[in-house]
Parts: sequence; structure tokens; C-alpha cells
Amino acid sequence: MGWLDNDVALVTGANSGIGLAVVRRFLQEGARGIGVLVRSEKGADQLRGEFGERVTVTVGDVRDPDANDAAVAATLAAYGRLDTLVGNAGVWDYFAPLRKFADGHHVAQTFREVFDINVLGYLLAAYAAAPALRECRGSMIFTLSNAAFYAGGGGPAYVASKHAGVGLIRQLAYELAPEIRVNGVAPGGTATPLKGPESLGKQGAKLSEIPGFDEAVANAVPLGFMAQPEDHAGHYVLLASRTNSPATTAAILQSDGGWEVRGRPARKPRPE
Ligand SMILES: NC(=O)c1ccc[n+]([C@@H]2O[C@H](COP(=O)([O-])OP(=O)(O)OC[C@H]3O[C@@H](n4cnc5c(N)ncnc54)[C@H](O)[C@@H]3O)[C@@H](O)[C@H]2O)c1
Repeated sequence: MGWLDNDVALVTGANSGIGLAVVRRFLQEGARGIGVLVRSEKGADQLRGEFGERVTVTVGDVRDPDANDAAVAATLAAYGRLDTLVGNAGVWDYFAPLRKFADGHHVAQTFREVFDINVLGYLLAAYAAAPALRECRGSMIFTLSNAAFYAGGGGPAYVASKHAGVGLIRQLAYELAPEIRVNGVAPGGTATPLKGPESLGKQGAKLSEIPGFDEAVANAVPLGFMAQPEDHAGHYVLLASRTNSPATTAAILQSDGGWEVRGRPARKPRPE
């Protein structure tokens, strides 16, 4: 018996990193099938190769309302219901500080790209999935970040977009209750190929390849290590489980090594 026996989920940005870890874990927990919305055919093939008929893949961009509608329709056609939406696809701004932008147009371009993917993408997925979730009293879970609460996890565009995610979760939890629970998971630095916006030329970059990044994350948090994607997956299982979190909505589980209590406790006296 798993915690998600016979459940059906839809996960955006599921072909790598945290989304892929969530798909794997949901299936281990007994989920009947997972719809996935991914950006590329290559990502789609990888998922079909690993999971076969246990995933139903839609290729599209989360900024496109039709792609979100199509992903919900394909999931319902394959498995007959939808219990959980995991809004997860995102981009990071690689710490782009205000002073690094060429001009105001460049600021506007980056803002729109980051907000369109990180915020509008979640809102469109919520809109597309809400009717089916309402029918079976399901839930939504959105991937936020330590940057949803604190400065320093990105530049102003990314940090503002993840803060916006907090408002999105609270408002949707309020509006969609009591039929649909709406929650979030806020990972800290995690070893994934997280990419950046085209407007910053970072569409091919990978967070996990930034030299020294894992050490910097480890040194910034009390728990002293950079997470792997699967380290967060249990939080999504808990929030998706009607049995184990029936009274939880508008909650955001922080999975960031203790970022709130910044820095590591001193283990040795400082040298003179
Ligand atoms: N890696 C970290 O350190 C970290 C920390 C905190 C929060 N997060 C958040 O975790 C989530 C998942 O990121 P990840 O770290 O697993 O990286 P990832 O790159 O492995 O996953 C992000 C996924 O989103 C997809 N995506 C991006 N833009 C898209 C678009 N326009 N349309 C469709 N799909 C699109 C990518 O193809 C990718 O599969 C993101 O929301 C990110 O902001 C990551």
C-alpha cells in the first residue's frame, strides 16, 4: 500500500530535476498514472522510455493556455480523473542583479520571461486543472523556493516571481476551498539542470554546473549540504495525500536546509 494508491497527477516540467523526482516517487507510492507537460520532444521521449504507459506526455510551453488545457485533457483521457496538479516548471535568473541589465527594456524582457514561466505558467495550469480537481476533491501543489521568502536566492526578477507564488497559493487556497486544497513546497539550492531565461542568454545554462555552487549552498545553511531532487519528493507525497494532510491548505513546506536560520552553527572556535 502506498500513500497515493490509484491517484492520478499532472506534473509540469517533469522531465528533469525536482519534477522528475516527483513523478518517480508518486509512481512508487502507487499512483495509477501521471500526466506530464514538458517543453521538448527529447524530454518526452526520455519519460516514455523510463515509464511507458504510466506517463501520458503532452509537449508544450507552460506559458501557452492551450498546452495546459491539452495536458489536462490528455491526463483525463488516459486515466479518467485528476487528483493532484504539481505546478513545477520554472527558470532561474542566475542571480542577475539590477546593475547588470543593459537598459530598462532588458529589465522588462527578463521580468516578463521569468514571470510568464514562473507565475503565469502556474496560474494557467491551475485554471486548466481546477474543474477536474474539484470533481474529486483533489489538490494543487506548486514548487516555490527559499527565494519565495528571503532575499539572496536569485536576482530581483526570480525572487519577486517566487514571492508572487506565495500570493498565488494563498489566494487559490482561499478561492478553491473547500473542494481543492492548494499548497507549496519551497526547496533550497538543489542539484538540478535548472536553466535561465533567453533574455539573459541562459537558456542553455545548468545550475548544477556552476563551479562551487554546491559548496556555497552547503555553507549557507545549517544542515550543511546541497539537496538532491529526490530529497524534496516526500513533501509532495504528503501534501497530495488526502489521508495524511486532509486539513492542510495554504501551507508551504520549506525544504531548504534551514535557510531561515541562516548560516551554519560554529563547530570550531574561530582562529585568532
Ligand atoms: N534547483 C534549485 O536549486 C531550485 C531551488 C528552489 C526552487 N527551484 C524550483 O524548482 C522547480 C523545478 O526546477 P528544477 O530545479 O528541478 O530544474 P529543472 O530545469 O530540472 O526543471 C525545470 C523544468 O521546467 C521546464 N520548463 C522551463 N520552462 C518551461 C516552459 N516555458 N514550458 C514548459 N516547461 C518549461 C524545464 O524544461 C525543466 O524540465 C522550478 O520552479 C525552480 O524554480 C529549484
